[in-house]
Amino acid sequence: MEKILEVENLEQKFDLSTGVLGKFKFKKGRLVKEERMVNAVNKVSFSIDKGKVFSLVGESGCGKSTTARTVIKLVEPKGGTIKFAGEDITNFTPGQMLKYRKRMQMIFQDPYASLNPRQKIIDIITEPMLFHKVANTKKEAEEKALELLHKVGIRPEQATRYPHQFSGGQRQRIGIARALAVEPEFIIADEPVSALDVSIQAQILNLLMDLKDEFKFSYLFISHDPLHPYTKVLLSAVPKLSGTNLKRSRLVKGEIPSAINLPSGCYFHERCPYARPICKEEMPTEKEVKDNHFVLCHLY
Ligand SMILES: Nc1ncnc2c1ncn2[C@@H]1O[C@H](COP(=O)(O)OP(=O)(O)O)[C@@H](O)[C@H]1O
Ligand SMILES: [Mg+2]
Repeated sequence: MEKILEVENLEQKFDLSTGVLGKFKFKKGRLVKEERMVNAVNKVSFSIDKGKVFSLVGESGCGKSTTARTVIKLVEPKGGTIKFAGEDITNFTPGQMLKYRKRMQMIFQDPYASLNPRQKIIDIITEPMLFHKVANTKKEAEEKALELLHKVGIRPEQATRYPHQFSGGQRQRIGIARALAVEPEFIIADEPVSALDVSIQAQILNLLMDLKDEFKFSYLFISHDPLHPYTKVLLSAVPKLSGTNLKRSRLVKGEIPSAINLPSGCYFHERCPYARPICKEEMPTEKEVKDNHFVLCHLY
C-alpha cells in the first residue's frame, strides 16, 4: 500500500526559559545554566496509507496538536523523520515547503480563532485558490468557492458575510471548505468537532467522511482504539447512558505526567490500573498483536 505520510521517531521540544538571561539560575550562590524543556512529542512513529483515515487519540496536553503542527512543519521537528508521498521533507526550508502547503491542509479545533475576522467568507476561500493557482481568475475562483460552500451547507448569499455572523458549526463548515479549496491530498483534522455542540458534532463528522469519499484524500484524524490499558481507560471514561443515570467507570486517576520531567519506564505507569513493577522500570517496546495493530505495553 502506498503511503501518504510516514513519521518516524518524531520529537518536538519547547524551550521554556526565555531569552539568554532566563537560561541562568542562581544555585547555592552561583549562576548556573539550566535548561527547562517541554518534551511535547517523544519519538512518535506512525504511517498513513493513501486514501485512508488514521486516528490519533489521546488526552488533552499529550502532544497531539504539536505532532500535527510538526508533521506539516509549522514548527521544525527536533528529531526523527517525516516523509510525505515518499519524499523526505524533514529538513525542507519554508520555501521548499510551499508546494506542500497546497498538498497538506489542516482543519483546526477552534472555529472561532481559525478564520480571519476581517475577511469575507468568499475571500477566505478564494485567496488560497488563487495563491496556489487552483483557479486562474478571480471569477473562476469564486465559482469554485460557491460550489464548495454549497457542498458544506453554506448558501451563496451568505458568502459575502464575515465570520462573526456565523455559528460555531457553520464556521467549522467554512474552515472545511477552505481546507478543500486547494484540492489537497492530505488533511489533518485536529479535534474538528470538540468545540461544537454535541448536536452539531455528528453532522460535521458525517460531512468530513462524505467529502473524503468524494474528493479521495487521506486523513489524519485527531480525536479513539482500545488495546493499551490507557486507551481502555480513556474509552471507559466516556459517559454511558443507562436509564436516566450517567455512569462513569474506572476514570483515570492522578495527573498527566510532567512533560518537563518525564517519568521512568512506561509514561502511563503512574496512572495505570494494571501497572506492574516492570512498568516503572522499563519502557515497553512495540508489539504487533494483530495485523497492523501495535501496542507498547508490558502486559501484551
Ligand atoms: N509553543 C509551545 N511552547 C511551550 N510548550 C508548548 C507549546 N506548544 C505546546 N506546548 C506544550 O506541549 C504539550 C503538548 O501540547 P499539545 O500538543 O497542544 O497537546 P494536545 O493537542 O494533545 O492537547 C503541552 O504540555 C503543552 O503545554
Ligand atoms: Mg490539541
